Amino acid sequence: MTQVITHLNDWRLIRQQIAGRSIGFVPTMGALHQGHVALFERSLAGNDLTVGSIFVNPTQFNNPDDLKNYPHPYEKDLEILTRLKVDYLLYPTFDQIYFDGYAYKISESEFSNQLCGKYRPGHFEGVLTVVMKLFNLVKPTRAYFGEKDYQQLSLIRGMVDAFFIDIEIVPVPTVRDDDGLALSSRNQRLSREERQKAPIFQRLLSSGLPPENIKTELTRNGFLVDYIEQHGNRILGAVFLGNVRLIDNVEI
Ligand code: PAJ
Repeated sequence: MTQVITHLNDWRLIRQQIAGRSIGFVPTMGALHQGHVALFERSLAGNDLTVGSIFVNPTQFNNPDDLKNYPHPYEKDLEILTRLKVDYLLYPTFDQIYFDGYAYKISESEFSNQLCGKYRPGHFEGVLTVVMKLFNLVKPTRAYFGEKDYQQLSLIRGMVDAFFIDIEIVPVPTVRDDDGLALSSRNQRLSREERQKAPIFQRLLSSGLPPENIKTELTRNGFLVDYIEQHGNRILGAVFLGNVRLIDNVEI
């Protein structure tokens, strides 16, 4: 059974006891799906011990409704982690993580203002700050992040380099449903009709069309487009279907 730790002082003691063993870390916000499972499987295969965290981090939500509607299927999540044989789950409260009242922040001043950062002010500050806090608590050998959140992965790599953090960041390819839709905890909020339409997003990103044309096609299909942009050898996008925001990216 996965050992659940809700108090950080308990964790600090455990962390001392497991010193010397390789530790894989998978930070999440819960509502676990096969995308998260792929990260845990990589960590379990590559380390002596695996630590997961579930913390729905309020500082990275710029939309209060999105935070309020974020799913919390804790029992089901714990079943998944236990089945996978994940060793530890950190499940801390807001007050423990943000005892400083979010007075201290990690910010990045270039890439975090582009793509999703342009549409979600403060989002990446919240992400980088909580990931830094979790890294310093867990002190993992390796940490696993999905390519689905490509900008997040890239900013975390940059942070680890910039602050000389001795953690290996391992990228994991995006896990998709059979119809191509990238798995996301937010997909369950799509209506049946929206869910049917959603795979068009990935199909158009992979179509080879220029970003402008992809945007036009998505709009024609009823998506509200935040952005479609090429960045290096990737094409990345964020769209709304109803009030659900979807992001995805593909290599070109
Ligand atoms: P969350 O959205 O729960 O995602 C946790 C990890 O799972 C991230 O690294 C994300 O990229 C990865 N992931 C999500 N869907 C995936 C998919 N379909 N295929 C592969 N990997 C996938 O990302 C966050 O939480 C938070 O921002 C966090 C890093 C935990 C900081 O709060």
